[in-house]
Amino acid sequence: MLRVLFVCLGNICRSPMAEGIFNFMRQKRDVSDRVKAFSAGISSNHIGEDPDPRASYVTSQHGIELQHKARLFKPQDFEIYDFIIPMDLINQAAVLQYRHRALHPKAEVIMMRKFDPIGDTINVPDPFYGDIDDFEEVYEILYRSISVFLDHLVETYRL
Ligand code: 4NP
Repeated sequence: MLRVLFVCLGNICRSPMAEGIFNFMRQKRDVSDRVKAFSAGISSNHIGEDPDPRASYVTSQHGIELQHKARLFKPQDFEIYDFIIPMDLINQAAVLQYRHRALHPKAEVIMMRKFDPIGDTINVPDPFYGDIDDFEEVYEILYRSISVFLDHLVETYRL
């Protein structure tokens, strides 16, 4: 079983949306027994909280229900996960600072938008201080990026 960990700042907007979209797509593609997504945040501000209601609303409009409680990223995540997928460069820098504290790090760190087939933007924009349209834009970015990411996993690992 391949394990994917999506990481953002608060773990209440972008990364739980990514987790929900990924796990929805893996069911559609019938690879649920081969790969699974999880999420975590680099800030402790929202630990234990449900996803932001705007994130849940937008994904539910697309038929995806989010079920997650925010949790903090930890160094051991490098030992548990095969892929760590940060949403922006700040998240990536934070994650990489923890790597040396893992005993046997195995996770490969790849930016989410490395898989975005549209444009050459690096970050998934933080929607927290935005409005519902910003959450919809994040959904679109994540949907198309995760679709390509899953294609990549299916091909590379023959899922
Ligand atoms: P996320 O969004 O990193 O996509 O979960 C944010 C959530 C909370 C905050 C910032 C971004 N905050 O400042 O509390």
